[in-house]
Amino acid sequence: MQNKLNKIAKDTNNFLKKFVIKQDKSELIIPMKYGLFSGGKKIRSKILTDVGSLFNINYKSLIVVGSAVECIHAYSLIHDDLPCMDNDLIRRGKPSTHVKFGESTAVLAGNSLLTMAFEILSHKNLDIPEKTKIHLINKISESSGHLGIAGGQYLDLHYEHKTVSKKEIIEMEIKKTGKLFSFCCVAPLIIKKKNKKEIRKFENIGADIGLLFQLADDLIDYKGSFLIAGKKTGKDKKKGKATLISLLGYKNTIKYANSLILKINRKLKKYGSKSKSLSETLNYILYRNK
Ligand code: IPE
Ligand code: IPE
Ligand code: MG
Ligand code: MG
Ligand code: MG
Repeated sequence: MQNKLNKIAKDTNNFLKKFVIKQDKSELIIPMKYGLFSGGKKIRSKILTDVGSLFNINYKSLIVVGSAVECIHAYSLIHDDLPCMDNDLIRRGKPSTHVKFGESTAVLAGNSLLTMAFEILSHKNLDIPEKTKIHLINKISESSGHLGIAGGQYLDLHYEHKTVSKKEIIEMEIKKTGKLFSFCCVAPLIIKKKNKKEIRKFENIGADIGLLFQLADDLIDYKGSFLIAGKKTGKDKKKGKATLISLLGYKNTIKYANSLILKINRKLKKYGSKSKSLSETLNYILYRNK
């Protein structure tokens, strides 16, 4: 699993490096590269290739789509760490982008990474029909705006120090993290021109995977180590974040996460041994320590 993930991370980074080199120079590219290449796991690209292999999609196209996703993810982290958001000084074991380059530069580098995702998906080098590209861009936009990352981040901040129901917490976690995973799960089906019903099914699988990912992130914050995670832990409690751990406790959250894995695996059963890699990734997501 770790070898596969390393290869995907390397291939995604190589694509992004080549893409960036071909662009005209600018000063903002330096903080953008800092946010992109400072050592993320690239787990979203892994999910894309896992689902892509269920539908026999060409690996190279998946890496390009994954690169666009990683741009959006990197943007979301740069903004997540800003003083007006989570106010975190360390990310991936290094100073956060705004600490290194200043707040306004971090905001603008984040904005530029967000739009770079659309540049990548609409680029002529991505060898898929134009109509499919538009469908992908439509979906990834939806995953990033008020119904996705931005909307979820709004709720995350809005819920601080408030009593929030389980349903509301889950909805918030699915928006801020789950929707981008949903995109990763439906992109291969969009490329294969699958029908709406099948797309919806994978959208739901993606939301559950994203929820699982966020629960694991919350578990790392609760029990993990700063040195391994590369970011400060124990901060959710201090900030009064509404998480399932704050509502149900640590053990029940793990139970809930395990039930999510069972639920997702049940839905994958019909793909037989082809879904082995995706199932492996689910276990990695829950039991990771960074
Ligand atoms: C952290 O994401 C933020 C969440 C959405 C929970 P990752 O854990 O994927 O961050 P990197 O890219 O590996 O650093
Ligand atoms: C971030 O969630 C979710 C995003 C969409 C960026 P967190 O705020 O829990 O992520 P970390 O713990 O700072 O990485
Ligand atoms: Mg946050
Ligand atoms: Mg944060
Ligand atoms: Mg966290």
